Amino acid sequence: MTHDDVAAVEQITSEAFYDLDVRTRPADWPTPEPRSPERSGPWRTRLAHLVTHDQPGCWVAEVAGTVIGAVAALRREGLWGLSTYAVRPGLQARGAGTRLLEAALGHAAADAPGFICSSHDPRAIRRYRWAGFDVHPAMLMWGRVNRSALPPAVPGLRDGTAADIDMLDDIDRASRGAGHGVDHHVMVEQHSLLVVENGSSRSYAYVYDNGRPYLLAATDVAAAEYVLWAALARSDPTVPIDFHHLTSAHGWAVDIGLRAGLELHNRGYLALRAMAPPPAYLPSGHFL
Ligand SMILES: CC(C)(COP(=O)(O)OP(=O)(O)OC[C@H]1O[C@@H](n2cnc3c(N)ncnc32)[C@H](O)[C@@H]1OP(=O)(O)O)[C@@H](O)C(=O)NCCC(=O)NCCS
Repeated sequence: MTHDDVAAVEQITSEAFYDLDVRTRPADWPTPEPRSPERSGPWRTRLAHLVTHDQPGCWVAEVAGTVIGAVAALRREGLWGLSTYAVRPGLQARGAGTRLLEAALGHAAADAPGFICSSHDPRAIRRYRWAGFDVHPAMLMWGRVNRSALPPAVPGLRDGTAADIDMLDDIDRASRGAGHGVDHHVMVEQHSLLVVENGSSRSYAYVYDNGRPYLLAATDVAAAEYVLWAALARSDPTVPIDFHHLTSAHGWAVDIGLRAGLELHNRGYLALRAMAPPPAYLPSGHFL
C-alpha cells in the first residue's frame, strides 16, 4: 500500500462493512448507514499515518490494476495489531483475504503478541483462527445513558493534552503491555482526552463528541471504572452511544453499562495471540 491507495482503501472498507451490516443486522437494530463524509476524512488520516509508520504491515490486493482489498497492521513495542482488513463485496471468499492477512502478519514475529478487534463476519474469524489466534466472543453495549445513574463526581478527573502522552504510554504498558507511541498524536487530534489520576492509580479515555469511548486504558480496574463513568457523563442524553469488544474479562464495564441503562448484546470477537484479554483496557478498532 502507498499513500496513493488510501482513498481507494477507505472506499472499499466503507463498502465492505456497510455490506456486512446490511446482510447481518438483527431485525431490531438501527438501520446501518454507510460511513459519512465526516467520518471518512479522519479514517483516511489514520490509514495514511499507518502507511507512514507501518508500511511493511500495509498491503493492497489488485485485479487488473484496480484495488479490490486491503489490510493494515501496526507494530508497537512488540505488539502486533490489525487495524483494517476488507475485500470488496462481490469479490470476497475467493482467497484475496487469505493472501492479504498473510502479508500483514509478516510485520511481526510469528509468536509476537497479537491483537484483533474482529467483526462478526464468519469469513474473518475463520482467517484469524487459522492464523493461530485465540478467539474470545465479544459483547457490545448500546443505548442512551441514564443521567440519574451517573456518579456525582469522578475523583482525580481532568482533561488531557498532548503533554500527557508519555504518561499515557506508561498506562498502556501497565494495561496491555505496549504503549501506543506515535498513534497518540493522531488520537489526541481526533478525540477529547479524559485523564484520571489518583496517586499511582491512573487511567485515560479518548472519547467521541457524543461521549462514546474510543479507547480506554488504566493501571487497574478501579481507575478504568472512574474514567468510563467520566466518558458516559460527557454523552448527549438524547443520542445512543455504544462501546464494543468487551469480553468476560470486562465485567466491570458491563456492570457500568447496565447501571447506565445500556443494552448488552454479543457481537464480534477479540482475536488474540500470546496474550489474554487485558481487563483494564477497552481497545480502539483502529489503533487497538
Ligand atoms: C474478512 C475478509 C477481509 C476476508 O477476505 P476474503 O477474500 O473474503 O477471504 P478468503 O476468501 O481468503 O477467506 C474466506 C474464508 O471464509 C470461508 N467462507 C466463505 N463464506 C463463508 C461463510 N458464509 N461462513 C463461513 N466461512 C465462509 C471461505 O471458504 C474461506 O475459507 P477457506 O479459505 O478456509 O476455505 C472479507 O470477507 C471482508 O471484507 N469481510 C467484510 C469486512 C470484515 O468483516 N472485515 C474483517 C474486519 S475485523
